[in-house]
Amino acid sequence: MAGHDNTHADNNSPRETRVVRDAKGRREKVEVPSTGHEWDGIREYDNPLPRWWLWVFYATVVWALFYVIAYPAIPLISGNTKGVLDYTPRKEVAAEIDKFNAANAPVQARLVETPVEEIAKDPELANYTANAGAAIFRTWCAQCHGSGAAGAVGYANLLDNDWLWGGSAEEIYTTVRHGIRSPSDPETRYSEMPRFGTDGMLDKAQIGEVVDYVLQLAGQPHDAKAAAAGQVIYADNCAACHAEDGTGDRAQGAPNLTDAIWLYGGDKATLTRIVSSGPFGVMPAWHERLSEADIRAVSSYVHSLGGGE
Ligand code: HEC
Ligand code: HEC
Repeated sequence: MAGHDNTHADNNSPRETRVVRDAKGRREKVEVPSTGHEWDGIREYDNPLPRWWLWVFYATVVWALFYVIAYPAIPLISGNTKGVLDYTPRKEVAAEIDKFNAANAPVQARLVETPVEEIAKDPELANYTANAGAAIFRTWCAQCHGSGAAGAVGYANLLDNDWLWGGSAEEIYTTVRHGIRSPSDPETRYSEMPRFGTDGMLDKAQIGEVVDYVLQLAGQPHDAKAAAAGQVIYADNCAACHAEDGTGDRAQGAPNLTDAIWLYGGDKATLTRIVSSGPFGVMPAWHERLSEADIRAVSSYVHSLGGGE
């Protein structure tokens, strides 16, 4: 069993050497000692570990000991060791937030005291609402109104000059604070367009005619004869909210039907569906989730986007 001889090596193969310094500092070549192990003619030398490697290794051991003592480290059945520094990343984040809030407290206090219409005239407040308001908008509003506030089907565009409930800073603030048809806020903006088809107030033919009249109001292609019949139906059923001339009524959040800016869509099928089963757009009341300062900041931001009045 020569191949598995692990006894002391004594064959003739050349020995490995390394250079060391002797007692007088002279370099000399010495034979590297062997551990005495040999497998298939391969000897295991007893080289020392490189010094740099060894020191790095010791340093990691010391670091690990320090870490385990200082920081949360060892999992226990419930919880973990806390470490003498009593550090947690959660605390660090909380401290950062506190610092941030403390820094913003004075400007937020002034924001809450300033009448909403005046906020934009105060350079410091305007600057604050432009930044904080934009951040709040991205967090709380963008999922419905779009990151650029241009809205989507059923979700109002906040950039244009077309407002359902009013585009002054004060009106926007009221809308944001109390929401629209928000079931949890008694002061919410509320109105309900009837479900003319579902509730049998108008039949299919009448709905078709009044839709043609709405298309005519908006200056879109329509059937003139049907629209003429629709005008009468409109006067009886729609004018109370959308106004005689179709320009809408902000007190009821009834959209302007003459401007070809549609919340839900201006094609015949969509208009028929809206008149038939009624829209019921809902926006949450934000005072349930945001602070007074945050509501003012985001309202002011929306007002500044271009469509503000
Ligand atoms: C869950 C979806 C949703 C979220 C989130 C939301 N909104 Fe709305 N918002 C709506 C809908 C729907 C309408 C249109 C309601 C209607 O049909 O009258 C609306 C309307 C508005 C209006 C009225 C526009 C007008 O023409 O009068 C304003 C202002 C507004 N939102 C601001 C905000 C702000 C600011 C936020 C964030 C704090 C926000 N919204 C978050 C759904 C949402
Ligand atoms: C009680 C008031 C009221 C009456 C009456 C009413 N509407 Fe409306 N209408 C509204 C309101 C409020 C909205 C917006 C609701 C929403 O977004 O949820 C609306 C929305 C609409 C829209 C959607 C507009 C868009 O921009 O997408 C159309 C179209 C419309 N109404 C047509 C009619 C027609 C046609 C009639 C008569 C047959 C009528 N409405 C009667 C209040 C009314």
